[in-house]
Amino acid sequence: MKFTSKSNEFKQWALEKEDNIPLNIDDLIVKIHDINHATLAEISNIKDIIKRFNCCIYQSRVSLNAQADLMNFAQSIGMETYDTNNIHNSPISLIMSLETKNTLNYIPYTNKKLNWHTDGYYDEKPIFSWLLHCEEPAYSGGENYLLDHELAIREYIIKYDNLESLSSLDAFTIPGNTHANRAETKGYICDNNNEYKKFHMKFSMREKNMKLNEQSKTAIMRMKKIIKEDCKKYCLTYKLSKNEGIVSNNILHGRNSFEDGKAMRKLYRIRSYERI
Ligand SMILES: [Fe+2]
Repeated sequence: MKFTSKSNEFKQWALEKEDNIPLNIDDLIVKIHDINHATLAEISNIKDIIKRFNCCIYQSRVSLNAQADLMNFAQSIGMETYDTNNIHNSPISLIMSLETKNTLNYIPYTNKKLNWHTDGYYDEKPIFSWLLHCEEPAYSGGENYLLDHELAIREYIIKYDNLESLSSLDAFTIPGNTHANRAETKGYICDNNNEYKKFHMKFSMREKNMKLNEQSKTAIMRMKKIIKEDCKKYCLTYKLSKNEGIVSNNILHGRNSFEDGKAMRKLYRIRSYERI
């Protein structure tokens, strides 16, 4: 489907989005009793919030027993097949500040700030959803910031009429990385030509090691500005506490830098090929 700002499809979709803009972080929050045994009603609440906002923050009263319980929880929400391209080669990756050689200085595994991105933008196969679960918050900092990518796309179409330059399959190129055993990849910035017919984004603010196609360059710079400036009003920030987590349809997100105290910030991450 080709969206232009004057098309009926766009107008209808944009109106629906208008009704589903989170006003504050409370709109995203769902309380659950025990993440190890989430009830059908709790799962249904989480799915409803994700359907509206592409993102939900859950707060569990009871702590996670084991990683397997988090996998079960993810599965019950609709995450069924998992990306294992991480330093643990596992469906579940422990995100904490590690200073080992394995991490090849991947920023997620440091205490540095992470700028706006969607997960797996460098992977051919799209990541449609991710979950972050907090076992231990940072002593200071480490807040996540969140922006529904569909709101950014909506702003872009209103301002620049269509997404053509951003949906080209070679809008950007990430060179191969022999250390990470990763071949060169090319990708779109946003596209809805997928099984869900919903917008998916492959986005990063990074400038190094990301070659922009000449035809898409202006459009990508415009999208960066939309995210940083025009969409500031839609951006929400939240610091996860222990037993809380975020589940999202791979929306735009980032992280503030953080400092560890005696206990180190510890988050579990699951990425899935299914949209919720
Ligand atoms: Fe991420």
